Amino acid sequence: MKLPLIAPSLLAADFGNLQRDVEMVNESKADWHHIDVMDGVFVPNISYGMPVISAIQKYATKPLDVHLMIIDPDRYITKFAALGTSVLTVHYEACTHLHRTIQAIKDAGMKAGVALNPHTNIKVLEDIISDLDLVLIMSVNPGFGGQSFIENTYQKVKDLKEMISKKNTSTLIEIDGGVTTQNASKLIAAGADVLVAGSFVFKSTDPMKTITELKGE
Ligand code: DX5
Ligand code: ZN
Repeated sequence: MKLPLIAPSLLAADFGNLQRDVEMVNESKADWHHIDVMDGVFVPNISYGMPVISAIQKYATKPLDVHLMIIDPDRYITKFAALGTSVLTVHYEACTHLHRTIQAIKDAGMKAGVALNPHTNIKVLEDIISDLDLVLIMSVNPGFGGQSFIENTYQKVKDLKEMISKKNTSTLIEIDGGVTTQNASKLIAAGADVLVAGSFVFKSTDPMKTITELKGE
């Protein structure tokens, strides 16, 4: 698949027209549907849960990339597998036994990702990176769409890319928060493989065209 992969975040979709917006992503050059799950505890916001994801899954034709911003995610791993999730990402800051959680995600037949908050150093993943299919670097504080991009992200991506190359793994680097065509090329140059974009896509006048531009086509 041609990099970067583009994962529009449905958090910024029009929930009154969710089917229409999911179908727009289906028709576009996007690669994945990014689905943000927030519990109001790990982050100061609540997004949506199983019934809404089930409705998304009914219409989505591309892989579901689920980003869990919840405490104790182990409770729901098999439920997300049953909902057709392809990539399940948990937060490093929310998992006491991260290795066990990652194994459980893989055992349930999904690809496993770990997300890092802006303040978390990539070094904490050194002993688990070879087990990860994806690392999601938060380029805003998790909880809300439409925030501005944190500039320190570029250096984090470079450091993480170096760690991945040294360990000789094929772990993908995903960037989430404040992504636009302004910062996309610098992120890709730093080593990003997957770009999540919510507001920039769904609040634009032509979301399909915006996705094509992010894809660099
Ligand atoms: C934030 C979410 C993001 C969010 C990105 O906590 O993880 O996926 O939807 O939204 P934008 O692209 O608007 O920053
Ligand atoms: Zn997200």
